[in-house]
Amino acid sequence: MLTQPSFDLIARPYRWLEYLTLGRALEHCRLHFLPNLLQQRRALILGDGDGRFLAELLTQNPHLHADAVDTSATMLQLLRQRCEALAPNVSKRFTTHQTSALTCPTDGPYDLVVTHFFLDCLTQPDLETLIHHIAPNLSSEALWLISDFHIPSGLMRLPAKILVRSLYLAFRILTNLRTTKLPNHATPLKQAGLTRIARQHLLAGLLVTELWQFHSAAR
Ligand SMILES: C[S@@+](CC[C@H](N)C(=O)[O-])C[C@H]1O[C@@H](n2cnc3c(N)ncnc32)[C@H](O)[C@@H]1O
Repeated sequence: MLTQPSFDLIARPYRWLEYLTLGRALEHCRLHFLPNLLQQRRALILGDGDGRFLAELLTQNPHLHADAVDTSATMLQLLRQRCEALAPNVSKRFTTHQTSALTCPTDGPYDLVVTHFFLDCLTQPDLETLIHHIAPNLSSEALWLISDFHIPSGLMRLPAKILVRSLYLAFRILTNLRTTKLPNHATPLKQAGLTRIARQHLLAGLLVTELWQFHSAAR
């Protein structure tokens, strides 16, 4: 049997590896739609890694409470340290769960789900399982913020394919991640009753961040 991927080993250097390879581009991508999230109250943050996004979200939106789910104990430890350092009472506003997002306990309804550079860790069947697991816990008009790598058309197509392949290979070596290609999240999200309401490409189309909205009547 194959062992599950583990991000524990790369959790501490993760931030620096990211800055070394792509500079601040991923950070810009994660934060692009943050101003649209200031009315949300109950968030489910999946695979946030070392918690840089959650810390920023808790800072910018002081009314928000969050459940943060990650399989990596070390990533969650970094996330807790980072968020608890914001202010003495911030620890009351989030709960961490070390478990798979595909089967995590849910305490919805959530009006926000965040998956930054997480869906691209999943195979297509696992992504569909995740969406079926999460969608029933969304409140009406809930937002789902997604950032992922993307293969653009045109001149950047080949370089993007090479980069994404190289990243998957690096993650395979460092974390035992078995995924080899970017899954398609659009079709299963639409089937679950979500509509894409905003989209931004960064780094010549290599990165994409999208805001989806749930409409309960559409399910
Ligand atoms: C590529 S990192 C992305 C981290 C961060 N969201 C970012 O924007 O850079 C993927 C994260 O998802 C976590 N992860 C991988 N598979 C998971 C799963 N099935 N359930 C929950 N977390 C998972 C990893 O431990 C890691 O923290």
